[in-house]
Amino acid sequence: MNYRLLILFLLLQTSCLLAQNKVVFTVQTQKPTATVAPTMWGLFFEDINLGADGGLYAELVKNRSFEFDTPLMGWKITSTKDVMYGFYFGSGIQILNQPDKAATNPRFMRVTLNKTQKGELGLTNEGFRGMGIKKGVRYDFSVLYRQQTAMAKLHVELVTEKGDIIGSGVLSPEQTDNRWHRDELSLTASATEPKAKLRFWYEGDGVLDLDMISLFPADTWKGRKGGLRADLVQLLADMKPGFVRFPGGCIVEGRDLAQRYQWKKTIGPLEERKLIVNRWNNEVQARLAPDYFQSFGLGFLEYFQLCEDLGAQPLPILNCGMACQVNSAELTPLENIDPYVQDALDLIEFANGNQETKWGKLRAALGHPAPFQLTMLGVGNENFGTSYIERFKAFQEAVKKQYPAIKLVGSTGLLSAGEMFDPTNTELRKLDVAYVDEHNYSDPQWFMQNAKRYDTYDRTSATKVFVGEYAAQSVGMTNLANKNTWRTALAEAAYMTGLERNADIVQLASYAPLLAHVEGWQWKPDLIWFDNLGVMATPNYYVQKLYATNKGSVVVSMLDKNNLPATGQDSLYASATIDKATNELILKVVNTAGNAQSAEVTIEGAKKIASTAAVLTLQNDNLEAENSFLLPGVVTPAATTINTKGNAVHVALKPYSLSVIRVNLSR
Ligand code: AHR
Repeated sequence: MNYRLLILFLLLQTSCLLAQNKVVFTVQTQKPTATVAPTMWGLFFEDINLGADGGLYAELVKNRSFEFDTPLMGWKITSTKDVMYGFYFGSGIQILNQPDKAATNPRFMRVTLNKTQKGELGLTNEGFRGMGIKKGVRYDFSVLYRQQTAMAKLHVELVTEKGDIIGSGVLSPEQTDNRWHRDELSLTASATEPKAKLRFWYEGDGVLDLDMISLFPADTWKGRKGGLRADLVQLLADMKPGFVRFPGGCIVEGRDLAQRYQWKKTIGPLEERKLIVNRWNNEVQARLAPDYFQSFGLGFLEYFQLCEDLGAQPLPILNCGMACQVNSAELTPLENIDPYVQDALDLIEFANGNQETKWGKLRAALGHPAPFQLTMLGVGNENFGTSYIERFKAFQEAVKKQYPAIKLVGSTGLLSAGEMFDPTNTELRKLDVAYVDEHNYSDPQWFMQNAKRYDTYDRTSATKVFVGEYAAQSVGMTNLANKNTWRTALAEAAYMTGLERNADIVQLASYAPLLAHVEGWQWKPDLIWFDNLGVMATPNYYVQKLYATNKGSVVVSMLDKNNLPATGQDSLYASATIDKATNELILKVVNTAGNAQSAEVTIEGAKKIASTAAVLTLQNDNLEAENSFLLPGVVTPAATTINTKGNAVHVALKPYSLSVIRVNLSR
């Protein structure tokens, strides 16, 4: 660079710096204003967007027990003799329906073979939008079978979309007592394929009944047989969530009450977990998913276990005798509410009861002798109004009587303001409910404006807030064009400073929905996207992760020169906590302006602060920026270190950025 250019460059630099807005803050480390609940930042899980079946639950076979409305949905019969359904020259495939066999799993496949050769008669399962198969990974195939003579073989193959075989094995079922048995074999894939299929060929003579045809990767989370997708759980674990809300969401309410979520039907042997339709099957007309059902392979025991693995508190939400009030609006008469209430009491016993109790004993028999330490329970999802309050009271009375320590979560409808919310919220508070569940799906502007929502909230009641579902919508709620843009994530980051600052009343918060399959989604935006082989974290995910992994244990005041918290002045939003375990001050500063700014933060109450501070920044100059499978790191945290000066930290705030600054304190 020549001399003149250098001067010009320095002048430009100086003028930029002068143009940069400098904002001063004072943090008072010696005066905590609230305790941050360990549960503060958590996860909302619902089987929407193929979140469970086809997603977190690693089963690769769709309709494994032929219980979908269309028994052979997902399956294709292959035959050289043009056999479709029924027999051809005495051989063929039929689906039998025998409710007396098992009311929960009445259908099975009957294969009749007549000197059938390999290649003549077979069956292919397409998986959930294909099967993601990885080279070198072991795949465990299993099946329930029944026969009187052992004369049939099953040639099992993993095939690519093009039809190449990338794994094979042969199963020769041996038991001939005409009872159901399990047989299994393992295949190791010779290639990676995002859209593989499972094919098997029958060979031999005789009649073979088959059911629960299953294929699982061996590389599940913690290597558990029949477990969860490790890559997805890892992303959740990386967030260190304080709680997991499950199983939803609207799925709790079901399409109607008959198809509501019932936890007791989701535990025990897989073949006894009765499959039902997933409400998201036909909920969204433009995104119909006729093959979306709930196998409950991911059931309540697995949910509790997941919480335990993640170190998160379980927060189950139960149906309260009401289906979705803006949908089927079906209501259980109050005089018939007892079974619903009993489900709640039994669930508490299942989670916490000792092995002398009926449900505690069952939990132990299912492989988990130790209790799960359930402390919270939600009654209803997005229910509201007088009918809801009446039903809530029935739950509250029974739970209080038997389990006074359990904290109940009351539902306040779909939105956190207006005629559904206000009276319901008021009534619940009169009932001293532990938490009210507020849902916020709105535009990014709303989230920024509502960073101060809880600054002036009702602090007279003992009731705390659970922001049970929230997400900034780039276009509008339920709009299928919504995107996980940096604009939405930044607005959420701004809003979350307000949740954190008011941690005395906001004790749990979870973004929703959590997971979405790139081909099987019904709702946008979502925190984590996945396909059959991989995962993609959104900018919104990184915001959640930065908050959850930099939570702190107490809130301290962080005020601007006018003694006000930053709730949008100078386009800045900020909050501060102290992590007592490490004695670090954690500042979160969100700059929603398109220009760089600088924050001078004076730290009061600490004898000394460390000479450097660690900074994590999430930033992009383009508010419409998104992460993608191809470019997953467009918005991703970057780590730097800055020097402190005396008892102050000077933070350069990039345009459109979230900065998390950790400063070591000594007192
Ligand atoms: O998160 C998606 C849906 O939004 C949930 O199922 C429901 O509770 C809310 O309306």
